[in-house]
Amino acid sequence: MSEKKETKAFLNVGIDLGTSRSAISASNGGRHWVESYVGWPKDFIARKVLGKAVLFGEEALENRLSLDIYRPLEHGVIKNGSARSEAAVKELIHYLVQLAQGTDTHEGIRAVVGVPAESFKINKVAIKHAVADFADAIMVVSEPFSVAYGVDALNNAMVVDIGAGTMDFCIMHGTMPTDEDQKTILTAGDHIDQQLQSMIHERYPAADFTLNMVRRFKEQYSFVGQSSSPVIVDIPVEGRPTAHDITAEMRRACESILPGMVETMLELIAGFDPEFQKKVRNNIILAGGGCQIRGLREHLETILKEYGPCNVRKIDDPLFGGADGALALAADMPDAYWEKS
Ligand SMILES: Nc1ncnc2c1ncn2[C@@H]1O[C@H](COP(=O)(O)OP(=O)(O)OP(=O)(O)O)[C@@H](O)[C@H]1O
Ligand SMILES: [Mg+2]
Repeated sequence: MSEKKETKAFLNVGIDLGTSRSAISASNGGRHWVESYVGWPKDFIARKVLGKAVLFGEEALENRLSLDIYRPLEHGVIKNGSARSEAAVKELIHYLVQLAQGTDTHEGIRAVVGVPAESFKINKVAIKHAVADFADAIMVVSEPFSVAYGVDALNNAMVVDIGAGTMDFCIMHGTMPTDEDQKTILTAGDHIDQQLQSMIHERYPAADFTLNMVRRFKEQYSFVGQSSSPVIVDIPVEGRPTAHDITAEMRRACESILPGMVETMLELIAGFDPEFQKKVRNNIILAGGGCQIRGLREHLETILKEYGPCNVRKIDDPLFGGADGALALAADMPDAYWEKS
């Protein structure tokens, strides 16, 4: 008797395509993420040494000298709309779908892809093309909307997604959000890294460090407001690991995103129906990797309270919040909304 694998119903997947990290959540329970790097071997020798046609995430970064390496999104959109970056998006999505699929067989795959709000406006068609080969039905949504869906904040709420390339804001008022309900600013995680890099360089000219190291310092010690303890990091000086106090720099760099953030939040709330502004102020949700900055939630609440009562909370899982929301959308979406690929 020939063994035949049982074919199961559709596999639903929710994908969060991000500038720095991309994640997938699937209806079979699979959850995976990868740093958004894609690298192709530079030549025949590199291909032979690496033994692979394409590398992703950490592995791509580790072998970057042998690779043409791409981080396909910049400032929330596909870089220059370039063909290579589009190919990188496609490879990244293919990789995530394969991870989620595992060895299961399915009748087909339905994918909801959450992308930065700007990318949603500019690259929707390119993203659909990128997914079309791996999915039978597709929907592209903006990332803050998928986050809102995942936490059931569909009415009188505001989601602020603090990513690497962009900070995306979205007001929810009981319907699908339109362009007017969304705003994007470019001061987010990458901006903090650049600020911190130049501040450390200014104070310690002999310190030898990379932007990558600065990002890791931030991810470990980020804070706004009062610090509970000094931030001391090891940075080599003339090859010798040396302790450096970067407390003040860390605070200033992290706080550099606050003015634009508060201004945009107030602007969006002010544009909302006056009778509902209070409700929105009481239902603000922070998402994305940047929501983990210590003291940020409390700081925002303090500032916004000057305008009336307010409540700011963080989503439980910044890494998978967008992907989980996209998966929930995939599960609930009526057939008419899907685009067949
Ligand atoms: N504990 C932390 N404190 C501060 N920032 C952090 C922390 N952890 C991660 N980040 C930052 O969050 C950002 C990544 O967040 P996220 O994964 O949501 O972004 P993304 O979706 O890849 O980017 P975008 O939404 O701009 O496309 C990076 O700048 C990262 O350094
Ligand atoms: Mg994101």
